[in-house]
Amino acid sequence: MKKHILVISGDGIGAEVTTWGKAVLEQIGKTYGHEFTFDEALMGHEAIEATGSPLPDETLEKAKASDAILFGAVGHAKYDNDPSAKVRPEQGLLGIRKGLGLYANLRPIMLFDELLNASSLKPEILKGTNILFFRELTGDVYFGEKKRSADTASDLMIYHRYEVERIAIKAYEAARLRGKRLCSVDKANVLETSRLWREVVQEVAKRYPDVETEHMFVDNAAMQLVKNPKKFDVVLTANLFGDILTDEASQIAGSMGMLASASIGDGTGFFEPIHGSAHDIAGQDKANPLASILSVALMLEISFGLSEEAKSIKDAIDKTLKEGYRTGDIADSNTDKSKILGTTAMGKKVLEYL
Ligand code: NAD
Ligand code: IPM
Ligand code: MN
Repeated sequence: MKKHILVISGDGIGAEVTTWGKAVLEQIGKTYGHEFTFDEALMGHEAIEATGSPLPDETLEKAKASDAILFGAVGHAKYDNDPSAKVRPEQGLLGIRKGLGLYANLRPIMLFDELLNASSLKPEILKGTNILFFRELTGDVYFGEKKRSADTASDLMIYHRYEVERIAIKAYEAARLRGKRLCSVDKANVLETSRLWREVVQEVAKRYPDVETEHMFVDNAAMQLVKNPKKFDVVLTANLFGDILTDEASQIAGSMGMLASASIGDGTGFFEPIHGSAHDIAGQDKANPLASILSVALMLEISFGLSEEAKSIKDAIDKTLKEGYRTGDIADSNTDKSKILGTTAMGKKVLEYL
């Protein structure tokens, strides 16, 4: 198979982790006889510094012309602490999601048994958890009109019927191939957007009588996720709720550094860890590269239909963890100190076992 991949490393730990995602892809190409070609493009703070724009036209053009995109992270402390900045790194990410029509963000909460003790939650609560989040990605309060005067600010929370319907269909199709349970999370007791959301999901549910549907309020869902995560199979939710719930759910998998995601729509797929540019550890060889490597596994499976190749990546990670190797974020009190690795050594270990 011949595929062209655009690598957008972005800011902070972005380049540190995508280096290993890309290296794994190259190795898969060699082992299985696929030809992966690569190009690079700017986004975020690095793009603002170089061009004045967080999403240069060239980046979007290259993205549209590629077969898949491997993304790192964007963000810079300078903007986090400056609410008045009009041009911001995160606009690049939001712009490419909208520009490529990436309306569905799949965030699997996959738990490696070796990491049961890495979580802040009790192992017996976690064991057996396997959740697939469908986070809507191009609507909601993220993209509604923003207004600001000296003492007032507003962000319009808005959903259109078709936006809810298309992601609901994707989530139901996935649920059908998994545990056949779908939990739609909203705030329909308060928000009009959520009442539309619930109405549309109820309609779509009728087309999937084989899937058991539950509707849950987001505040309750946030609690249930840590009380009994095993109760969830597919979770379908809006952009903002999905953003927040999946950072929470990363603690089921042990760390933010373990969660990969696939952003898909009708065109090129975009594969990214759920974490950000992590200023606190950037440039220190501390970032966990496994989320980026797992994003590559999602790319192979979802965009290219290469399930065997994707499985070989998960197996290599499994072996790395079984051998006791950990980055700092997934180490626990039982970890052999000599097996706590930096980003580079962890990336190399996975390659060695691939
Ligand atoms: P963050 O995800 O960058 O970091 C949160 C915490 O998780 C930090 O303690 C960090 O050290 C840790 N962490 C994250 N990734 C890790 C990894 N791979 N290995 C080990 N530890 C890891 O979130 P934040 O601190 O709220 O945001 C930092 C910046 O990133 C902000 O500018 C924010 O806007 C941006 N951001 C970008 C994205 C993205 O590009 N997709 C996502 C979230 C946040
Ligand atoms: C994520 C991030 C982004 C989001 C930000 C950086 C725009 O938190 O990918 O989860 O909120 O979607
Ligand atoms: Mn987020």
